[in-house]
Amino acid sequence: MRRYLVAGNWKMNMGPSAGRELAAGLQELLQGRQLRGDVLVCPPYVTIPAVGEVAKGEPVLLGAQNCSDQEKGAYTGQVSVDMLKEAGVQYVIVAHSERREYQKETDDMFVAKINRIHEAGLKAIFCFGEVLGERKDGRAEEVVRKQLEGVLPRLEFANAYNTVLAYEPVWAIGTGETASPEQAQEIHAFSRKVVVEIMGQEVADYMRILYGGSCKPGNARELIGLPDVDGGLIGGAALKAADFVGIIEGAEASQA
Ligand code: 13P
Repeated sequence: MRRYLVAGNWKMNMGPSAGRELAAGLQELLQGRQLRGDVLVCPPYVTIPAVGEVAKGEPVLLGAQNCSDQEKGAYTGQVSVDMLKEAGVQYVIVAHSERREYQKETDDMFVAKINRIHEAGLKAIFCFGEVLGERKDGRAEEVVRKQLEGVLPRLEFANAYNTVLAYEPVWAIGTGETASPEQAQEIHAFSRKVVVEIMGQEVADYMRILYGGSCKPGNARELIGLPDVDGGLIGGAALKAADFVGIIEGAEASQA
């Protein structure tokens, strides 16, 4: 019912030449394959044009890791949604835990960004997830609910197709530690229930919820095969074409 999405978040890796090379490697490995789902890469801003020259949406889609919450003007160092759109971006990641933590971004900013993304006709990938202490205290669901309720009810144009959720337990990001299938399914099902409450059953049925956090070729099939997991948001393993394609193959196998 839901097409999987495997999205690579390159974070602050890959300048234009390395990025072009990685994208070309992906294109080569994926050439001629009929995929059941969608594949996306999200390079750093400066690398987007170089990757766009190689990845033309067949099958690799182009995304960004962030955008400004403002439309345009005197905002030094920021990049607007319209600029990203002009560069060929179709998806924008919002609210990654690294931006929540290091840039102190807030729900108000996430809402403004996602509304701009949607207004421009692009798709948003909204990240959420608890930190280790919160999980240990048995508060994972409470935290996830708060993060979803702080943003989703305030979105003006959101639907099941322009909005993707990404559950990324912070303790699993870049640590090599992955949520167990039981932990992942539990929070994904819970998140979908919260989406039902806010946006209704039909939207929740079609909305994709990705898992992120030390996803790799060896665990992708099992994780993405879970009933409420509709793909992955991949960090480290997205930086090597063979690993990323291994995850895509896991996603394919999970839906076969
Ligand atoms: P890793 O796959 O490196 O754990 O990173 C996950 C992530 O943060 C993707 O956005």
